Amino acid sequence: MYRTHTCGELRVKDVNMEITLAGWVQTIRKFGAITFVDLRDRYGITQLLFGEELQPELDANPLGREFVIQAQGFIQERSNKNMNIATGEIEVQVHTFKILNKSAVPPFTITDETDGGDDLRMKYRYLDLRRNAVKKNLELRYAVSRATRNYLHENNFMDIETPFLIKSTPEGARDFVVPSRMNAGQFYALPQSPQTFKQLLMVSGYDRYYQIVKCFRDEDLRADRQPEFTQIDCEMAFVEQEDILNMFEGLIKHIFHEVKGIHYKEKVERMTWEDAMWHYGNDKPDIRFDMKIATLKKPSSVYINKEDHAVLISGADFKVFDEAEAVLAIAAPGCSEYTRKQTDEITEWVKRPQIGMKGMVFIKCNADGTFKSSVDKFYNEEKLKAIAAATNAAAGDLILILAGAEERTRKATSELRLEMGKRRGYRKENEFKLLWVLDFPLFEYDEEGNRWVARHHPFTSPKPGDIEVMISNNPLIENAEKYLEHPYAGIKANAYDLVLNGNEIGGGSIRIYQRPLQEKMFAALGMSEEEALHKFGFLLGAFEYGAPPHGGLAFGFDRLCAILGGSESIKDFIAFPKNNSGRDVMLDAPSTIDDKQFEELQIKLDLKPA
Ligand code: AMO
Repeated sequence: MYRTHTCGELRVKDVNMEITLAGWVQTIRKFGAITFVDLRDRYGITQLLFGEELQPELDANPLGREFVIQAQGFIQERSNKNMNIATGEIEVQVHTFKILNKSAVPPFTITDETDGGDDLRMKYRYLDLRRNAVKKNLELRYAVSRATRNYLHENNFMDIETPFLIKSTPEGARDFVVPSRMNAGQFYALPQSPQTFKQLLMVSGYDRYYQIVKCFRDEDLRADRQPEFTQIDCEMAFVEQEDILNMFEGLIKHIFHEVKGIHYKEKVERMTWEDAMWHYGNDKPDIRFDMKIATLKKPSSVYINKEDHAVLISGADFKVFDEAEAVLAIAAPGCSEYTRKQTDEITEWVKRPQIGMKGMVFIKCNADGTFKSSVDKFYNEEKLKAIAAATNAAAGDLILILAGAEERTRKATSELRLEMGKRRGYRKENEFKLLWVLDFPLFEYDEEGNRWVARHHPFTSPKPGDIEVMISNNPLIENAEKYLEHPYAGIKANAYDLVLNGNEIGGGSIRIYQRPLQEKMFAALGMSEEEALHKFGFLLGAFEYGAPPHGGLAFGFDRLCAILGGSESIKDFIAFPKNNSGRDVMLDAPSTIDDKQFEELQIKLDLKPA
């Protein structure tokens, strides 16, 4: 037997017991003739005391950091207790020990605060995973997975696996492809999600499906994106949007309860996509704080049902506002006393290329009710007061105003709002605020491809009232630019996203389940009949055989774990993640393959310069 106990479980009640432990040497401290060793395993750390009688053996077989050893001895109460760790009241008086395996000197310290940089830790990820900080994240991930499985099982969901070697599923990213040896010259695509399979399972009658499943997307990486990531993928038949929202509100609340001990009692707030964009400039608003965007001026073609305050700012001869398509403002609470240096610094912040604004206007709403602004020349006190009222600013606030093209300015104002929220301490790690964003547009215009694309995916159903519009219009998709005022532009989808603290943690939709509407959708996306049949003939075919009404959603599992764990980066919650260039630096993958493999695949490399 290698061990009788783990390094995390022995306590004062075990004093005098003879035990055997096995684990890794975390630290070695020599005090004269005695040596203390902290022994670590997955469960904790226990102090070992090697007395004088063991010194000759230790001298002959010196221990080093990360050596794997086995030690036998008796538990005794420590004179010098460490109340910071669970085993801190006891130690093991070792009488025999054995080195099970030596270790090279680790390239970084295996402690919570390590001296290893990101790259080094990823190269030696198996050592990094020994660190408590990383282990805690994986434990949280496992807890989220357990809570998810339990909830879904209780609600009659069935876990069904779907294949990885498939034909493309469009989720808006590039596919990873795998060459087929047995079908030379042909390629599988790795699933961007199991979308079409889960819909087929609904046709097959498995009316509640789920899977915690890997998805593969070749897209530009960010802190919250990995090329292979995990989804909690779900689908239900005979449901409407409301059924789905309720079921998965239940799931997320169950996860909060099981994993964080939080009773999220309130109903999850709901907001239309249009309101999210209007008030927060972004389809995944962080509603932990207010600071809503005020639209002082907007182009007439967007947010048609919403009013701006253009009268307040026009006619003052202030060119920046007069010439801008959009003028947007936020009021940062309690910032009216910002110094010139501080307002300059925020101005520089909005001018960074990532934000892309030319400048910023500010109005200080002083505590005594007066105003001071960078545009005093153009707007008198009365005007400033009116602007402040339109911006919902109170005395003591600092109004920040950006002007420019609508889309860019709204995005920049949204970023500025988040930045000011962070600076004001409104984005607390341990405060959780969920939000359903509803009624997304069905289509979105892809500037690069000059065409309309499905905003969610092409299997998403239009809102009931908009189905008629879909059926009766047949737009020409070539030269889509001309169709910005397109009859489809206003069509809303039966789609929803779940947002947590400003992050999209899940998304889904009610699906199209009738062949004619699905065909119409493919046509609207510019697909010819042949192309639609070639790509999705299996799905169109399945819809001929009694497809039930259905819908579903998928949570970004890694993202959910990261947010629950208080981190921005999903890498910390993945055992073996890729770096920002999509590389596994430990495996050194991707890498070239042997000539023999190319031969078997009947593939010859002819790399074109990028
Ligand atoms: P969607 O594409 O919105 O929907 O993905 C669902 C959720 O997955 C997460 N996610 C990612 N996480 C890490 N890295 C990535 N590269 C990445 N891409 C997406 C997000 C997102 O909300 N089949 C549909 C779901 C459905 O309609 O049922 C789908 O995949 O948190």
